Amino acid sequence: MAKQTRPCYIVGNWKMYKTIDQAVAFIDQIAPLVANSSCKIMLAVPYTAIQPLSEKVKGTNIVIGAQNMNDATEGAFTGEIAAIMLKEAGAEFVLLGHSERRIYFKEDNAFINRKVLKALDSDLMPILCVGESFEEHQDKQTDKVVAQQLTECLQGVKKELMVAYEPVWAIGTGLAATPKVAESAMKQAKAVLGDILGDKVGSKVPLLYGGSVSPKNAQEFLESSEIDGLLVGSASLAAESFAQIISLQAK
Ligand code: PGA
Repeated sequence: MAKQTRPCYIVGNWKMYKTIDQAVAFIDQIAPLVANSSCKIMLAVPYTAIQPLSEKVKGTNIVIGAQNMNDATEGAFTGEIAAIMLKEAGAEFVLLGHSERRIYFKEDNAFINRKVLKALDSDLMPILCVGESFEEHQDKQTDKVVAQQLTECLQGVKKELMVAYEPVWAIGTGLAATPKVAESAMKQAKAVLGDILGDKVGSKVPLLYGGSVSPKNAQEFLESSEIDGLLVGSASLAAESFAQIISLQAK
């Protein structure tokens, strides 16, 4: 496979799973298993685990990030967290616009746009998540939805970021998209990113696929020349399955 001239990214999203003790035990288990990987290994962990894990992964090839943040610098926003706090705790990146944030917490593109700008301004790498619902998929609206979400979430953005295409119907359902569906969305994303960021910056944006990625199906996504990596939810919770996915990249 002639593909891997660009770096490969494997990102885990732990969602609301793992206490600090469980998170530390996970790193103990996975670090030796992935030590020789050429992938960039990134873990989006619960807020409480960011600081201890950032210390724990020093000297390994794993980096730690957050799953969300607020767009304000600071303020009276009970329960929210600011970019500067994540940075101080050791986060290097942040997931933004995940469909669970959009659906359960009613985050819209304008809010996500402000967060992307704030993250970039704070030297936190945003991983912007976009993707269509099941109905939109059935209606063949994928390209339109991806284009609209990217356009609205990237207003005023000039710097490089990362983008994850995660069809909502594939998240946590066991029904992954096919590489063909993902590739078509990636092509659309690439075109829109070129329009927004200019071809030079746009072409550098790593594009990840997410949605029911498992050790069984990861290889076919990783083989695609359109896909730069994976965003993995439930299969990132066990060190064995996450390490298995990471090891596929080298094959
Ligand atoms: P999943 O989650 O792998 O469990 O489908 C992916 C995600 O939510 O990022």
